[in-house]
Amino acid sequence: MKRIFSGVQPTGNLHLGNYLGAIRNFVGLQADYDCIYCVVDMHAITVWQDPKELVANTREVTAAYLAAGIDPKKSIIFNQSQVSAHAELAWIFNCVARLGWMNRMTQFKEKAGKHRENASVGLYAYPTLMAADILAYKASHVPVGEDQKQHLELTRDIAIKFNGDFGREVFPVTEPLIFGSATRVMSLRDGSKKMSKSDPSDYSRITMTDDADAVAKKIRKATSDSELIPGPEILGDDGKPDEELRRARPEAFNLLTIYAALADVELGEVLRDFEGKGFADFKKALTEVAVENLGPIGSEMKRLTDAPDHVDDVLRDGAARAREVAEPVLREVYDVVGF
Ligand code: ADP
Ligand code: NA
Repeated sequence: MKRIFSGVQPTGNLHLGNYLGAIRNFVGLQADYDCIYCVVDMHAITVWQDPKELVANTREVTAAYLAAGIDPKKSIIFNQSQVSAHAELAWIFNCVARLGWMNRMTQFKEKAGKHRENASVGLYAYPTLMAADILAYKASHVPVGEDQKQHLELTRDIAIKFNGDFGREVFPVTEPLIFGSATRVMSLRDGSKKMSKSDPSDYSRITMTDDADAVAKKIRKATSDSELIPGPEILGDDGKPDEELRRARPEAFNLLTIYAALADVELGEVLRDFEGKGFADFKKALTEVAVENLGPIGSEMKRLTDAPDHVDDVLRDGAARAREVAEPVLREVYDVVGF
């Protein structure tokens, strides 16, 4: 059986990058895989989260899953803390993973920054919890962005070492599912940075709940340039823009890429349609396609979070179904370990 596990942290400010890079893809995978979509609240608290906001943000991610089209009858939607197998398996994996492996994790270095001594132990151990998330369900595939590739590699190393140490093929070696080039959305203000939840500037991101006015304003203020939009001849055989050109105009190409992703067309088609136009015109069209796509999702998210009973029911039911899958795996692991 092909099974997917993936998750989003309930850390607020869900944005266009989260939608195009993750959540929208989750919807499509339901046709071919048995899907488990988690709200990873235990990952979120590796950095400080206000408890009241954590509750609201957990509902927000759940609402985004539902509003985007994840079907809770088909897929399992739940929050991580409600299925204790994640924490239990993570401990075992802390005893399988080697310090040398963990010390190579670049995301910890980035997130801990200069004040590494002050980072939580949980932030350091994040990748072993992620391995537990995936392997508690023996997931065969994980959709990953660039930023999570190294962590999935670690998950594979843990599965191989566990199976080898105990001489039993308990865990699969999970494969990455990597999506097309439209998955990396950059900040609207600075094309060298990823669009992110934690950017201090609200104008750096379009959130999934921004209304039409907010979307229009953010796109109007987005950094672009005064050059005209090039034609499709700048694309290579791989459909990607010439790297030197792209690097010279990162914000311009980010906006063009966002348009292609939202309209669900190739970049070449966007360049054909807008060749020779300036960004003032293009931004109007981008606003239209953004509002058309995100508007209905944002209003459905608001409806769901205003009266959160349905969202809470989905999470409760999802956790019960997740336990049915994860608990037998944990019992098997405990038996193999000698507990
Ligand atoms: P963030 O990175 O914004 O804090 P998460 O770590 O919860 O959010 O990531 C949730 C998902 O969204 C992950 O699959 C991640 O790869 C994806 N994602 C986050 N930011 C972007 C972005 N700017 N472009 C594309 N995908 C993104
Ligand atoms: Na991330």
